Amino acid sequence: MTHVLVTGAAGFIGARLVQVLSERGYTVTGVDCFLPDLYSAEMKKARFSTLDGLAGVSLVEADLRRDDLSALGAPDVVVNEAAMPGLTKSWEDLQLYMDNNVMALDRVIRQTATDTLRQFIQISTSSVYGRIAEGAEDSPTNPFSPYGVSKLAAEKLGFAHRDNFGLPFSVLRYFSVYGPGHRPDMAYHRFLAAARDHTPITVYGDGSQRRTNTYVDDCVEGTINAIERAVPGEIYNLSGTESYSLNDALDIIRDVTGVTLDVRYEPARAGDQKETKGAIAKAQAELGYQPQWSLRDGLAAEWEWIRSLGSH
Ligand SMILES: NC(=O)c1ccc[n+]([C@@H]2O[C@H](COP(=O)([O-])OP(=O)(O)OC[C@H]3O[C@@H](n4cnc5c(N)ncnc54)[C@H](O)[C@@H]3O)[C@@H](O)[C@H]2O)c1
Repeated sequence: MTHVLVTGAAGFIGARLVQVLSERGYTVTGVDCFLPDLYSAEMKKARFSTLDGLAGVSLVEADLRRDDLSALGAPDVVVNEAAMPGLTKSWEDLQLYMDNNVMALDRVIRQTATDTLRQFIQISTSSVYGRIAEGAEDSPTNPFSPYGVSKLAAEKLGFAHRDNFGLPFSVLRYFSVYGPGHRPDMAYHRFLAAARDHTPITVYGDGSQRRTNTYVDDCVEGTINAIERAVPGEIYNLSGTESYSLNDALDIIRDVTGVTLDVRYEPARAGDQKETKGAIAKAQAELGYQPQWSLRDGLAAEWEWIRSLGSH
């Protein structure tokens, strides 16, 4: 059976990907170092431990920046989910982003680029497009934050390995992923936790910024389709299809939770995108990607999960 290496396996999306790959019968190696910089290492360790013992799954604790990576073996497919995400901190500590998003990728490529490697899938982001992220994959890339710059550099590094040495490298650009397991720094997690705890919600900007959010299970399905069908050298957007502003999403959260929200507006954060609208025709045609989840149903599922965590 196909052996898939998932880096960032303790992360929000990586952990869900490992679970579903295991259910589908893949052999999986998951690696993570529980990076403490964006949110707690404890939360990541807890996610990682839920993967322990799943069929076909081996777990490795290693820092891709510096540790010996020979325990990763010789996978058929690599999905490089590992990264330092989040835009705010990227203005303060670009080194951290370049090290985890670019230098670590270089080490993973050098470790796994064997003759038997079939796919190296780099997980990228709508942030590489810039303040407005719409249109197809060949749209101009003008990142609006240092985070976006680091993720675009990673794409370029992989393509340089492909063009020189034939690395079977392709890119998936995710668009604002949410759902159960969501990162605690991201807006919908913060909003739903505030609804649960009856605490104020901070919105940066006027709330008119728009997103085509992607439910985590849709994102994972698209990623598994790419494992089977991505064409090396290609870039694919993976996004939801419904476009909502942050204020629209707050209305849905009011409906779903039945809670009266205390919303406070603060100045927009440097680097925040005005609009992301993922054009997914290529992923639909070439990967068979078909997102299933509405934002309302996805937020309802995330609300159930947030409530199950209890107040902090
Ligand atoms: N969540 C989103 O909305 C979103 C949107 C676009 C793109 N992405 C991309 O998707 C991927 C996964 O994001 P996520 O939201 O699950 O983030 P996450 O922070 O929850 O997961 C990333 C994981 O990578 C691990 N990691 C980072 N550097 C490492 C290193 N040097 N060695 C070992 N492990 C390391 C972290 O510890 C973490 O567990 C990232 O590449 C991110 O850029 C996410």
